[in-house]
Order: sequence, then C-alpha cells, then structure tokens
Amino acid sequence: MSITQPRLGAALHTDDVDAALRQFLAARRAEAETISAAYASAVAELESYVLRGGKRVRPTFAWLGWLGAGGDADGPEAEAVLRTCAALEMFHVYGLIHDDVIDASLTRRGAPAAHVLFAEQHRERCWSGNAEQFGMGAAILIGDLAQCWADDMIRTSGLPARAQQRVAPVWATLRTEVLCGQLLDLSAEAAGTEDIDTPLLINQYKTASYTVERPLHIGAAIAGADARLTAAYRAFGVDIGIAFQLRDDLLGVFGAPEETGKPSGDDLIQGKRTVLVGAALQYADRQDPDAAKFLRARIGRPVCEEELGTMRTVITEVGAVDHVERDITARTDRAIAALRASGATDYAKDQLTAMAISATQRTS
Ligand code: IPE
Ligand code: IPE
Ligand code: MG
Ligand code: MG
Repeated sequence: MSITQPRLGAALHTDDVDAALRQFLAARRAEAETISAAYASAVAELESYVLRGGKRVRPTFAWLGWLGAGGDADGPEAEAVLRTCAALEMFHVYGLIHDDVIDASLTRRGAPAAHVLFAEQHRERCWSGNAEQFGMGAAILIGDLAQCWADDMIRTSGLPARAQQRVAPVWATLRTEVLCGQLLDLSAEAAGTEDIDTPLLINQYKTASYTVERPLHIGAAIAGADARLTAAYRAFGVDIGIAFQLRDDLLGVFGAPEETGKPSGDDLIQGKRTVLVGAALQYADRQDPDAAKFLRARIGRPVCEEELGTMRTVITEVGAVDHVERDITARTDRAIAALRASGATDYAKDQLTAMAISATQRTS
C-alpha cells in the first residue's frame, strides 16, 4: 500500500497520517500472526485504537514546522517526513494508554480505555485471575509496543541520514520530557499541591513538549532550520502547548463527554492539581473562605453529580475560569506574535496561526 502523496503547500490531512499508521501497523500485524493468534489480536486492538480517531494535532504541527522551514510537500522527502510525523501520533497513543491506567480513566476517544477493554475481554472469555489486573497489564504492554514502534517509525521513516541525525536528539528529549511531566503531575496530585506555578510547569513538560514545541522542533530539524527559526517555533510551541492543556483542564471539568470523548468532572474527583483548581483555591481563599473550605473538602473525593455541579459553580464564581481564559488568550497572542516575527514561510504562519486558535479554543 502506498501513502497518498501530500499536496504542495497543503496542510497535513488526517487521512495521510492514518495511511502511514495503517501501513506500518499492517506489517507489524502480519509479523504478529506468524507468532501467535493471541499476540496478533492484541496488535489488532492497538491498530483499531490508533485509527479510532483523535485530532492528529502533533503530526500536523511537525508537518507545518517542516513546511515553514522550507520543506517541499511535493519533493522526494515528503513521504519520509509524513512517516516521521505519524510516529508522533503513535507515541501519543502510547501516552494515552498509559495515562488512562495511571489516572484510572475509563473512557478515551469515546470508547472504553485500553485497560478497560482488555479487562472486558478477560471477563468475556471467563479467564482466571483478576480481570482488572489483567486489563492493566495488557494495556501497559500494548502501550509499550506503541512506544517502541514510534521509535521504529522514526528509524525506518526513510529520512536522509543527516536529517535523522538532527531529529534524534529532539526525539530523545521529547520522550524524556513527557515522562518527567507525567511524574510531576502524579506527584502534585498526591501531595495536594495548591499553587499555580507547579501545574504550569507540569503542563509544559507533560503536554506542551510533545504536543507542540518538539513536533515543531522536529519539523525544523528535518528541514535543517537555523537556530532563530527553531527558537521562534519553540517559544510558540511552549505557549500554545500550555494553552492547549489549559483548555483541556477546562474541558475536563466543564466539557461535554460526547464531544471530548472522555469523562467530565473526573479531574475534580481524582484531585488533579490543575491551574484551574489552584486559581479556584487561591481566589476562594481571598474572597469566600466557606467556598474554599467546600472545595478543599471535596477535591479528590468521590462526589455525587449535584456536588460536582456546585463545585463547577464555585470554581466559576470565584473567577478561576476567567483566570484560565485570560491566560489562554495571553499565551495565544504572544505565541502568534513570535510566529509572525519569525522567518517561517507565509503559508506556515497562516496555518500555524489557525492551528493555534483551534487548539486553544476547541470543544473536543
Ligand atoms: C489529549 O490530547 C491529551 C493531552 C495532552 C491533553 P488530544 O486532545 O490531542 O487527544 P486526541 O488525540 O485528539 O484524542
Ligand atoms: C494526557 O491525557 C496524556 C498525556 C499527557 C500523555 P489526558 O487527556 O487524560 O490528560 P491528563 O491526564 O489530564 O493530563
Ligand atoms: Mg488522564
Ligand atoms: Mg494524566
């Protein structure tokens, strides 16, 4: 199967990313079938998870980073670049599968999370042992496969050796940064951190790095961009990536599950330490100590729908939602200004500006 040749100057289409992923996974599934039916069926689960949806934000940023630094969408390198961009999606899937185990989240992309799905299979087959434990074990392993295969997709992308050498350290950094961010997130939740700077740092490492900053950096590295353009991309990427997570935090509390594909209110029940929660506690401490007491008594505890509704009202009324919205706007404006002043091509500037807005104003 050949990958659809991207069109000159065109923004990356999800179909193109899907074709690259499908091609890679079909080969892995064929190998798995020669080993065992059980392994092949787990690989097929990974394949359907990867192809089930998702906005494909990370491959798109990498692609635009490459185009903006002089990449030619009709040139001989385009298919190899596309495969490299698709590797970011494979890596993301690894992150999502493990994140849902870590956060004990039950749904993702509108369907059961991977660990839930494998637990269901265990129950349906009347296997022995604990179904939940099996589900988590299988999800960890399938996530690990996605992580290894993301590496393989980069290595076998067909990029010229010099471009591969430029990409390698950025890829290594991206892999490490997301793990650092996830660990900080987990620790902040356990420690009950209440400040705003800690979640901002977490957002930079757990999300901005692998979602916007490093994908653009990888695109720049493939094209051999100069240090100034790379720095401008990274400044844009940190701000838009943090704003992307700030929007995600708002959606995690106020979003519609049928649009986000993940539960609403779970962040509060789980006790996730977001900027939204930090701002709500700080503002409530200043304005309404009873409201602060109410929130502290409920964050991180199993609460009913009615209490969740009251928590949402308090968070809004003390001004925490406005705080987060202002931060999203300020970061988006600053990022777009840095991009506009950069040496990226006009086409990429326009596309990245549109991406900055859609990534930070989204409802899904
Ligand atoms: C979700 O990412 C995880 C975060 C880092 C916020 P996306 O919102 O890009 O998820 P999909 O890929 O569209 O499902
Ligand atoms: C985050 O997924 C995934 C990664 C950052 C790898 P979620 O959409 O569940 O976001 P969190 O768990 O609230 O960060
Ligand atoms: Mg999560
Ligand atoms: Mg998480």
